[in-house]
Amino acid sequence: MKSRKLLIRGGVGILAAAAAFFLFRELKGEAIDWYAHRRYVRTAAYVSSAAPDQICLTWAADPATTQTIQWRTSSSVESSVVEYRGEDEPETETKRQDAARMLVEDLLLENDPINARFSATLEGLQPATAYTYRVGDPSGENWSDWAAFTTAPDDAVPFSFMYLGDAQRGLGAWGLLMNKAFERHPEAAFYVVAGDLINDGGWRNEWDHFFGAAEEIFRRRPLVPALGNHDYDYDEVPRLYLDLLTLPENGPDGFPAERAYSFTYSNALFVVLDSNLSAADQAAWLEQVLSTSNATWKIAVYHHPAYPSAPHRENEDVREVWGALFDKYHVDVALQGHDHAYLRTYPMHGGERVASAADGTIYIVSVSGTKFYDQVDRDYSEVAFPNVMTYQVIDISMNPDRFTYRAFDGEGTIRDEFVIEK
Ligand SMILES: [Fe+2]
Repeated sequence: MKSRKLLIRGGVGILAAAAAFFLFRELKGEAIDWYAHRRYVRTAAYVSSAAPDQICLTWAADPATTQTIQWRTSSSVESSVVEYRGEDEPETETKRQDAARMLVEDLLLENDPINARFSATLEGLQPATAYTYRVGDPSGENWSDWAAFTTAPDDAVPFSFMYLGDAQRGLGAWGLLMNKAFERHPEAAFYVVAGDLINDGGWRNEWDHFFGAAEEIFRRRPLVPALGNHDYDYDEVPRLYLDLLTLPENGPDGFPAERAYSFTYSNALFVVLDSNLSAADQAAWLEQVLSTSNATWKIAVYHHPAYPSAPHRENEDVREVWGALFDKYHVDVALQGHDHAYLRTYPMHGGERVASAADGTIYIVSVSGTKFYDQVDRDYSEVAFPNVMTYQVIDISMNPDRFTYRAFDGEGTIRDEFVIEK
């Protein structure tokens, strides 16, 4: 009994000493490399095998005529291919495309330290067309099931898409939410995730968990991600994010590739920005993209909110540098993350609340994982609530041009909605 007490006291003492050490360094203003403290041996829950899995669609180029597909296998697999054809075409029309292979290491994963990642971009596809495809071993032993994707339209037609805030923690619960969202809203053509897909960007097991939990969705609907701070790894480089996802390289000149990009889907422009890097370095490109687009709807996607939900989490650069361009070129909505609660601002212009969406931008923060932060009342908050995982369905229709937004909780209950008409 006595030795147990001593043991407990000893443990408490060690914890107190460690806390005092870190507090002392924080107070002295010395940077602590928190990630360095996370380098330890781990076990992967989603172990790769010779059979391809975790198939994920993205767009690296024009969504109307290309489709990028990535998947993983164990490192023993040397080559892998995509077989595909138009859904209405006979089997004899099946085409085959080779994939690029890369080994993805996380040497601290004791049961799956190295696996293989494959990526292929199908080109020359027909717009607004359904294709069936599978991926696998060209010798024919290990194939995925057939799945289908549909290319983007090349003209203005109604469509729906999904927007999600941070997944990050509680990826099991997040996967359940995602699958419910997909079941209830198969009409959503693609999934925008506004950064912090996982918690520790350098841990491949978390990425494996992310792709594994949503594989039934992402093999049918493209993932459109923005970079969050947690997507970076130990060396402050988003190595795994960049290795695992093939994304467009049409961002600012001289800016790291695949971190900022844009695409048009139907009559909507999507501009994805990297709020971890300098807002100013992306401003000229952002202005050029916004000023040359004749899309009806302009949608910005990035991680750190211009108008925070939680206390002490201001991002002045985002609000001032990008916000000024959103005002000038009338961005309709900004889809954001990072603050782990739900917030929709009134339409904002020049940092002030304005009367209608015709005069300003609506900024939204949401969270799709299980990590929640406190929230404080702000004069810019139109709808705000903490502690709820949500997914958002946006329907875009014509005659008149209408943007219908709904935020749902896991039960499928609408927690927020609004409509913009033009
Ligand atoms: Fe974040």
